Amino acid sequence: MANLIHNELTIADGATFEFPEDVKGQGRITGRIGRNAEVIFHGIDVFLTRLHLEIKDNCRLVVGKSAIFNKQTNFDMNEPGASIIIGEGCMFSRSRFWTSDFHGIYDATTGNRLNHTRDIMIGDRCWVGNDVLVLKGTEMGNDTVIAAGSVVSGKKFGSNLVIGGNPAKVIKEGIIWHHKKQDIHPDFE
Ligand SMILES: CC(C)(COP(=O)(O)OP(=O)(O)OC[C@H]1O[C@@H](n2cnc3c(N)ncnc32)[C@H](O)[C@@H]1OP(=O)(O)O)[C@@H](O)C(=O)NCCC(=O)NCCS
Repeated sequence: MANLIHNELTIADGATFEFPEDVKGQGRITGRIGRNAEVIFHGIDVFLTRLHLEIKDNCRLVVGKSAIFNKQTNFDMNEPGASIIIGEGCMFSRSRFWTSDFHGIYDATTGNRLNHTRDIMIGDRCWVGNDVLVLKGTEMGNDTVIAAGSVVSGKKFGSNLVIGGNPAKVIKEGIIWHHKKQDIHPDFE
């Protein structure tokens, strides 16, 4: 176990930041947490290479216990008040989560904004593959794999799926996954 390194993480007044102090891996967290935001990563054998957090005021990011961050993961919450809730036992390769589009899109007739910030919810035991981008409004059930290079564009998905592509669609159903790669799932031995 190594000590968490978060000396390049700025935490504003009134914000809550909870992360297990002892993690496996490089353990670096950079970025900014805004006023009255809540950022909570639960513990138990967390593996962390690198996280970058851009969390605006009053946002909420909660990641369940036993997360594995194999490569840098970015959580960008660019407008106040959004939330990202992630279940337990999830595994992340290099990936990005965006609750906002960073710029406005408006109806050309009325001037009304069309692309409001939206929350993201990910279930338990999800595996987020390499170079995945998860956009605002995405909801996923449990035991789901997101294929490498996918863009998940704000849709709702169920459980026990492989999803992939741009925009991500269901590729396989009725699956479970395990970080061990052998002929039979360890629970079936
Ligand atoms: C998601 C993944 C695990 C699925 O593997 P698999 O179950 O063996 O799937 P298959 O290779 O049988 O592909 C099934 C279908 O999905 C498609 N597909 C697979 N990966 C895809 C991807 N990344 N994007 C879009 N479509 C994809 C295949 O073309 C195939 O389509 P078809 O049925 O029309 O022929 C694998 O494709 C993948 O993305 N691996 C990388 C995982 C990763 O990022 N690891 C980093 C370490 S955490």
